[in-house]
Amino acid sequence: MWTKSDLQKLVQEKLGDYLFCVVSNRQPYIHVFKKGRIECQRGVGGVISALDPIMQTCQGTWVAYGNGQADRHVTDNQGKLMVPEGSPRYTLKRVWLTKEEELGYYYGYSNEVLWPISHTAFRRPIFRREDWEHYKKVNEKFARAVMEEVGNKKAFVWIQDYHLCLLAKFLKQMAPAQIITAHFWHIPWPSYETFRICPQRRELLEGLLANDLLGFHIRYHCNNFFDVIDREIESKIDRERYSVFKGTHETLIRPYPISVDFEGINQIAESEDVRRHQETLIQEFELSNLKVIVGLDRIDYTKGIPEKLRAVDRLLKNHPELKEKIVLLQIGVVTRLHLHEYKDLNDEINSLVEEINWKHSTDGWKPIVFVRRHFSLPEVLALYRIGDVGIVSSLHDGMNLVAKEYVSSRSDNGGMLVLSQFTGASRELTDAVLINPYDRNQFSDGIYTALTLAEEDRQGRMMRMREIIQHNNIFRWAGKIISDLLKFKFKDDEIKYKMSDPAESFRLSYPADHSKNQRAKDS
Ligand code: G6P
Repeated sequence: MWTKSDLQKLVQEKLGDYLFCVVSNRQPYIHVFKKGRIECQRGVGGVISALDPIMQTCQGTWVAYGNGQADRHVTDNQGKLMVPEGSPRYTLKRVWLTKEEELGYYYGYSNEVLWPISHTAFRRPIFRREDWEHYKKVNEKFARAVMEEVGNKKAFVWIQDYHLCLLAKFLKQMAPAQIITAHFWHIPWPSYETFRICPQRRELLEGLLANDLLGFHIRYHCNNFFDVIDREIESKIDRERYSVFKGTHETLIRPYPISVDFEGINQIAESEDVRRHQETLIQEFELSNLKVIVGLDRIDYTKGIPEKLRAVDRLLKNHPELKEKIVLLQIGVVTRLHLHEYKDLNDEINSLVEEINWKHSTDGWKPIVFVRRHFSLPEVLALYRIGDVGIVSSLHDGMNLVAKEYVSSRSDNGGMLVLSQFTGASRELTDAVLINPYDRNQFSDGIYTALTLAEEDRQGRMMRMREIIQHNNIFRWAGKIISDLLKFKFKDDEIKYKMSDPAESFRLSYPADHSKNQRAKDS
């Protein structure tokens, strides 16, 4: 089993004098003004919670967009500062963007083109030429920021997500002999039928193929990527090595299912602090004597939140005996509100909650409590631990870390996970109650099953899922990617990449007993 210290050892032994650089749009720490003072807050989202512990272990430099109002007040003249505050472990270098750049590159191209095109949630992408121009310009800006750090050194650069498809290409143009890159794609990769509508598809693909290593969560996404390359780019696909040759440049394609810090979550979940938060939540939302169903999602149209609310409605229609016995406590994290899709979704959720509560509520009881405030990590874990059932209902999701966090937090082996079959996580957590969020009856039956499972069955399923996550933890995910990245040699070295058996790579990325079934399903 991979541990934090294994990762530390790997980095200390192999990284030597090279620079290790992570690049993402979202920054791990943000500075804001609060009551006339500057406050440092940890950024939100899966990418941050996955990579911050890793950077604290590996040190190095993290380059990201400085979007906080007070960010410039705490950095040096190169936009840098050490983080986390209080126990600094690594350098954060902020890239400054104008409002127009943020609008075009982040809201526009990243979130109105690449986000809808990568998720099967039936939202139409919006292609605007000016957004694409900003996207290119900002990717180049990120490349210059990375180069300021690289200087004359050699660097391993680990790029995150769909905001930075062109970064590797810019970096390789700027310093071909000094930089080795890996890019991890945190969201699904679409089928050719979907991707081919994108007018800039070739430029995006060429950008990604400038990387030495390209990672997706699951093999299914790797195969979608191969299909797209096959039809769009003049190249040679080597299915044995699981790689693409464009000219003489080779990009290895690999599945690395992301995970969570299982041991860390367990430790905090068992703390006195979390226990106190559990009591507060039960009191605040009047949950005693009720079976509690919990949900925690960014308010995004890919998360299937209206579907979840409607499934609870259907559950109460089919099982009126559950009235006054259950409650859905749903936390919604507000995001990307500048985009009308997100505003509309917020409105839809508000009216659905009101309608369903009005329909079923009785004196002193209502079935849905929807909360939009910020929850700290201990509060999130407390929420999970009071949840007899946790629901993740994404219409499409690369992995979904809420599912893995929920299971990891249940060191008491309590609770039960209801999980959409369209998440990457459902490939590993096959003991969850798997549902199709589009099918309202099947979804509500799934919730009913989770609420009424025989105790022994329920506990056995939770224990098996916990074992899988404990083994396939975040340090293994990062350890696998970083060790694959460190196998590449810089241009002036003889052998570019020491190839291991590609099948080995899959075995290491999947829990042993799942890899065979999965391969059968994927093929
Ligand atoms: C989701 C995706 C991440 C992505 C993030 C961006 O969580 O899974 O891959 O980085 O959204 O969210 P943001 O709030 O930064 O737009």
